[in-house]
Amino acid sequence: KQWFASRTELAGKKVLITAGGTVERLDPVRYLTNDSSGKMGFALAEAAANRGADVTVIAARTTAAPIGGVELVRAESAEEMLQAVLARYESADLVIKAAAVADYRPVSQAPSKIKKSDERLVVELERTTDILKTLGERKTHQFLVGFAAETENVASYAMDKLARKHCDLVVANDVSQEGAGFNADTNVVQVFGPEGLVEALPQLPKREVAERLLARIAERMNADTA
Ligand code: CTP
Ligand code: CA
Repeated sequence: KQWFASRTELAGKKVLITAGGTVERLDPVRYLTNDSSGKMGFALAEAAANRGADVTVIAARTTAAPIGGVELVRAESAEEMLQAVLARYESADLVIKAAAVADYRPVSQAPSKIKKSDERLVVELERTTDILKTLGERKTHQFLVGFAAETENVASYAMDKLARKHCDLVVANDVSQEGAGFNADTNVVQVFGPEGLVEALPQLPKREVAERLLARIAERMNADTA
């Protein structure tokens, strides 16, 4: 009975998960990106689907394989990801922003390959839209989960992001730690809620981290609507 119940915690819920690192183009053959593998986001998608949710993954650059029964939408840049998420936001019950979204993109994209010329080249960058912050500002009924990649002051930066972006939970990882964050198969996370630290998980495979996070999230979502 316990097992059956845990598999239906998110039955009937629409879940939107972003994953991977965005790609910000400089010209048709060059771009800026980051070390995100997308593994955490895809593991979360699988854990949500295992709990009966209707799951869509919006993925930027990733090495993760598509998951059976989970809708996969491709979005290359922060701007494309923003549009893909906004188009599905209203009907979503839960949004998890696991993607590593570029903070800056080249101001202009050259229509053809940039030829080399001077010894030095300066590339001007501009800020991208903060997708999570935009979602927080437009939140109606959605349960919003953000990630925070930090190398210091993890708790205070995570709590600051939770408040600033109107998140219900923030999953913080210390990316300076071995076996955590970008490109690793394991992760070490701390979960923060409006009241502060909710749970500190030990180093675990990303699949196991995802299972525990979804259990927490479902518990809080179901408490909200009870
Ligand atoms: N995020 C986003 N859109 C951006 C940048 C970040 O939606 N343009 C989201 C990420 O998906 C993540 C959360 O915001 O869920 C935190 O990302 P992070 O890089 O840790 O924080 P930033 O707010 O970008 O601040 P900084 O990089 O300066 O620490
Ligand atoms: Ca950032």
